[in-house]
Amino acid sequence: MTRHMDIAPEVTGFFDEGTNTITYIVKDPASDHCAIIDSVMDIDYAAGRITSQAADQLIAEIKRRGLTLDWIIETHVHADHLSAAPYLQETLGGKIGVGARIMEVQDTFGKVFNEGTEFQRDGSQFDALFEDGDSYSVGTMTCQALSTPGHTPACMVHIMGDACFVGDTLFMPDGGSARADFPGGDAGELYDSIQRVLALPGEMRLFMCHDYGPNGRAIAWETTVAEQRAQNIHVGGGKTREEFIAFRTERDAQLAVPKLIIPALQVNMRAGHVPTDEAGNPVLKVPVNGL
Ligand SMILES: [Fe+2]
Repeated sequence: MTRHMDIAPEVTGFFDEGTNTITYIVKDPASDHCAIIDSVMDIDYAAGRITSQAADQLIAEIKRRGLTLDWIIETHVHADHLSAAPYLQETLGGKIGVGARIMEVQDTFGKVFNEGTEFQRDGSQFDALFEDGDSYSVGTMTCQALSTPGHTPACMVHIMGDACFVGDTLFMPDGGSARADFPGGDAGELYDSIQRVLALPGEMRLFMCHDYGPNGRAIAWETTVAEQRAQNIHVGGGKTREEFIAFRTERDAQLAVPKLIIPALQVNMRAGHVPTDEAGNPVLKVPVNGL
């Protein structure tokens, strides 16, 4: 596996207050090419209103800096916010990429939302489906996707130079880890995936997808592999797989369903496209007692 710890991309994080998501613009240090990781589309679910303030901020930043967008990456199918991938692509170009196991996620939630045959379960809504270890380019940088299932089957972390975007594999050391109780999630698999991340070089920069500022600390999103190994409250200091599974299972049973899971899954399993009715109007479903 090739790693490039001597390449340090410029990473700019954008914190979305509504969903505690961090979106990244990652710029190749040797060119004006960049990638966006885990973008957000704003939704007022009660009003059924979807707007683009968060995405427009990214577009303005990329235009201001004169960057070329090569990739729009989704670390996984998020259950807590809507992706802005198609909206960004329309304006900035770039390819939308996700893990190849999206097909399993589409199959699971295609059933939950009782989708018809017009909903393709082959990942074809995305431009690229990454397999474990696949490489792709952002300008002159060779980037790599690693399969890290557990939170969801299609979760991947993305390595760009000395920076690794962990999605929901890990939270900051004092936040621990993400839940593993969604359909297709698995606490044991999540532990194994986290070990893969912890086996990366100690000085590698790690960028979180979410932060909730536990115990009143200010929002933060960057740490290192070495810090996670030593300090992560769920897996650090050599916690065993059995300890993790027991803890994670007990914790997950107490967690509420994410506020935006119903709209988020329907949109994100379509690569960020809002589903439409027979007349072509954008519309979301609420399956009753279906989740
Ligand atoms: Fe997630």
